[in-house]
Amino acid sequence: MNAEKIRGDFPIFKKQIKGKPIIYMDSACVTLKPNQVIEAMNRYYKEFPACAGRSAHTFGRKVTEEVHKARVIVQKFINAKKTNEIIFTKNTTESINLIANSLDLKEGDTVLTSDKEHNSGLIPFQLLKRKSIHHKMFQFGNLEDFRDKLTNDVKLVSTVITSNLDGTSQPVEEMIKLAHQNGSLVLLDGAQAVPHREINVKKLDVDFLAFSGHKMLGPSGIGVLYGKLDLLEKLKPFVIGGDTVKNSTYDNFEIEDIPKRFEAGLQNYAGIIGLGEAVKYLTEIGLKNIAVHEQELNRYISGEFAKLGIEIIGNLDSEKRSGIISFNIKGIHHHEVAGMLNESANIMIRSGMHCVHSWFNAHNLDGSARISLYVYNTKEECEVLVNEIKKTVELVS
Ligand code: ALA
Repeated sequence: MNAEKIRGDFPIFKKQIKGKPIIYMDSACVTLKPNQVIEAMNRYYKEFPACAGRSAHTFGRKVTEEVHKARVIVQKFINAKKTNEIIFTKNTTESINLIANSLDLKEGDTVLTSDKEHNSGLIPFQLLKRKSIHHKMFQFGNLEDFRDKLTNDVKLVSTVITSNLDGTSQPVEEMIKLAHQNGSLVLLDGAQAVPHREINVKKLDVDFLAFSGHKMLGPSGIGVLYGKLDLLEKLKPFVIGGDTVKNSTYDNFEIEDIPKRFEAGLQNYAGIIGLGEAVKYLTEIGLKNIAVHEQELNRYISGEFAKLGIEIIGNLDSEKRSGIISFNIKGIHHHEVAGMLNESANIMIRSGMHCVHSWFNAHNLDGSARISLYVYNTKEECEVLVNEIKKTVELVS
């Protein structure tokens, strides 16, 4: 994998701030976009800016065809059996909400999540308490605890593959087997996994998978919910309207087929087409190469941080944290660390609780600074980062 060559595809790297290049290390939040994605989206707006699945004119037919192509690309990317198992949503958050609100959960049923879920994987299930549906938790990554908490009342396990907080992953293959033996369905939040390593839904035998375009070089405002077709058939759509019904009268309606019944209203066609292009781009680089590249950079940064005595959150072994380094420097607040990196060298990282407030609150921490790497980051950028961090550490020691 040649990060230097890849960078040539990203117009943002032409930009300088205060005469210096930008060093973008916040890809767990949003990734940058290559020309291929931007151009694919522009093609929609410039050449066939119409709606899909409705109008039979030239533009209508073209956009319908392009949306279908993108669906097939995404299907192949995660190895889903059927094209209509891919539902386009706004993002991972909407995909999880769709399941929380559409699955036939009854009073007394339980949803099991880990204790390290993003707010999007936690709050939708907290809200189900209003319908007397229980929510309980297991310790993230702890298979024994997972087994203990997997009682008969658990109808759905909803959990994250890779944590956005610290980059650690769970043994999801094993967890899915255990959940199925218990008669529970499994929804995986793949927002931080799908962009970084191969996720094969058939091999995993996962029931539902959610992920977002904006974390995988694609546009924002587009996401995916994968579901096994027989399970999607049983869901009750919770957002309904244009293009979700075949026919209606003043009293009733006839529901559309899948996936249309879950894609209400005019869709983000440019986003869907851009996502298809992003998937093509990632496939060309190769997910295995991406994983190796992130690990190499993470190993370097983590090694240097260890020498400086910096506290890293999550697994100390960098191999277990994909491209994420979540850390705190004694004597200086994480927001200040992020602010200083931004001011001194245009190094953009995230600081705070990373939408996993519940975990930080339970651990009496007020957040961390988080570096998250991707295909365009280079060893040289990491060296600049380490130098800046050294200066910060010297300042407070
Ligand atoms: N989940 C995103 C992040 O970790 C927003 O930054």
